[in-house]
Amino acid sequence: MSSSIILGIESSCDDTSAAVIQDNKILSNIAANQQIHNEYGGVVPELASRAHQQNIIPVVEKAFSKANIQQNEICAIGFTRGPGLLGSLLVGTSFAKSLAMSLDVPLIEVNHLQAHILAHFIEDANPTPPTFPFLCLTVSGGHTMIVLVKDYFDMEIIGKTIDDAAGEAFDKIGKIFDLDYPAGPIVDRLAKDGNPDAFQFNKPKMEAYDYSFSGIKTSVLYFIQKEVRKDPDFIKDNLNDLCASVQKSIIEILMDKLEKAAKELNINDIAIAGGVSANSGLRQYMEANRKKLGWNIFIPKFEYTTDNAAMIAMVAKLKYERGEFTDIRTTATAKYDL
Ligand code: KG4
Ligand code: ZN
Repeated sequence: MSSSIILGIESSCDDTSAAVIQDNKILSNIAANQQIHNEYGGVVPELASRAHQQNIIPVVEKAFSKANIQQNEICAIGFTRGPGLLGSLLVGTSFAKSLAMSLDVPLIEVNHLQAHILAHFIEDANPTPPTFPFLCLTVSGGHTMIVLVKDYFDMEIIGKTIDDAAGEAFDKIGKIFDLDYPAGPIVDRLAKDGNPDAFQFNKPKMEAYDYSFSGIKTSVLYFIQKEVRKDPDFIKDNLNDLCASVQKSIIEILMDKLEKAAKELNINDIAIAGGVSANSGLRQYMEANRKKLGWNIFIPKFEYTTDNAAMIAMVAKLKYERGEFTDIRTTATAKYDL
């Protein structure tokens, strides 16, 4: 197979990102994160699409210059078609279509969730990629699911959350602690200096491999309301322990089902993906238990965990090899099954 250079574009939520991939090697992976949402405590869709509009040209230009590639050297453009915020997706989709037309190269649509999982096949993501079939715990701000990955494009969701996603739980509980959005990385940082056994929170009892995170959020809220009535400084005085305890509970909920699935399906190659896979507690738990569980674990490099265009470029490259191109009349889609 001759060498292929592909541009990937990601704009599904609040990160505008562009990456250049050559074969399986990422030459550049640029992201502009939108700080504007922090003061609102969550992503404001209208503001997100406006910021994408401002960021997309400089981000793509930077991706080309960092990769030391001229526009006319690329042989295809991959873009996130969904799932995500429609106004955000429209910016990346329209941009990708226009550039593909002007450069006269094929357009390749990418499913954002598949991309989180297939990021494991980027050359420097792992010393060796996982072997099929493997399980991938896909945990982000919008999704939490255990995926049975039978082949690159043959994936089955065997368990998922019935309410909040794990990242959403981190963010919403962080908000109760008065932390900025997104709270996940802040909880992670504060948890490092806290006692994970200081507080106990209710765990859900769910069927099969499904998850629920709204219960722990409510349990934390009621607990905090009760304690703050007695001592207004309760959160401030216990912030590290609170974060460590919440993080431990969320990790235990995630890992219980993943361990159950791995055992029952007799699968030893276990991967994690998505924004929450950046969590240091989750990473440590996987590392610490790999021997006991007999797992080969696949933890993405930090830059391939939260939303990024490298993973989009990776999927585009796999589809390019298969000749799977997208009609220029395609439209972005907010909902997009695996
Ligand atoms: O995959 P992602 O960047 O965007 C979505 O597709 O949702 O995931 C973002 C989510 C947010 O909820 C954020 O709080 C969470 O990932 N997150 C973390 C960490 N870094 C990002 N959660 C816990 N610990 C982290 N270190
Ligand atoms: Zn994502």
